[in-house]
Amino acid sequence: MRDAFGVRARPRLRGALSRLMQARATMSDITEPTDNLFAAAAPPSDFVFDAQVARVFPDMLRRSVPGWPELLRLLGLVAARVAVPGQPIYDLGCSLGATSAALLARLPQARIVAVDNAPAMLDGLRQRLAESVAAGRVTPVCAEIMDLSVTNAGLVVLNLTLQFIPPQERLALLRRLRQGLVPGGGLILVEKVLFPDAEAEALLDGLHQDFKRAQGYSALEIARKRASLEAVLVPDDIETHEQRLRRAGFRRVERWFQCFNFVGWLARG
Ligand SMILES: C[S@@+](CC[C@H](N)C(=O)[O-])C[C@H]1O[C@@H](n2cnc3c(N)ncnc32)[C@H](O)[C@@H]1O
Repeated sequence: MRDAFGVRARPRLRGALSRLMQARATMSDITEPTDNLFAAAAPPSDFVFDAQVARVFPDMLRRSVPGWPELLRLLGLVAARVAVPGQPIYDLGCSLGATSAALLARLPQARIVAVDNAPAMLDGLRQRLAESVAAGRVTPVCAEIMDLSVTNAGLVVLNLTLQFIPPQERLALLRRLRQGLVPGGGLILVEKVLFPDAEAEALLDGLHQDFKRAQGYSALEIARKRASLEAVLVPDDIETHEQRLRRAGFRRVERWFQCFNFVGWLARG
């Protein structure tokens, strides 16, 4: 018998290997339900961040966003370099708290205001980050970002959130966030992007589809999710993002992450 790496295993090792693989499968079943929301035959409707999505969201992000675990680790490093000590960090569109957790890993003393308008997502964050919430490190806020008052922020993070804000409202939001930063503060923005060049778009979007197929999504699931997100997630190209950040009042705009069609920036005042 050969194991997953093609190595011939001795009989005693074989048993141990198979027990380990079973244990791993069981652990992932318990901790992260598999995203098969789009495998069912129901016709796709507009994507909503409801309880069904919240249940499978960690698996969905890991299998849909190329480089997601590394992106979170790097985001923590960027945040640790720019967050102004003693000032609150705003995690806008916080979902279940993956970004807040990455921030806390690098900034254990941080006070994070975690904002989302989807109650099911915030419920998940309250469970996952229960200790940090109880300790007052993370304050969950159920609110519409467009109505939120951001003041004295040392750092604002929009990790895959701006793309869900209507395009005509994005500049006004970024201006408000810029004004809500203390001197020296910054904004971390991560988005799925488009490429105006048709060949580049075909390549990078194609690679994103390849990634999802390699993660076990079927072509049908990918097509259904795409249709469901079409009216809800509206990506911009890199140039549009960078120009808009400058128009919003950020003097410095640096790109620190790109994995296929997912890009991360740091913008500073
Ligand atoms: C793709 S998820 C972001 C992932 C998240 N940052 C993380 O670390 O896992 C987008 C989130 O933004 C929230 N959202 C979208 N539009 C919003 C709005 N206008 N106000 C507040 N939250 C919003 C959604 O409910 C969803 O939880």
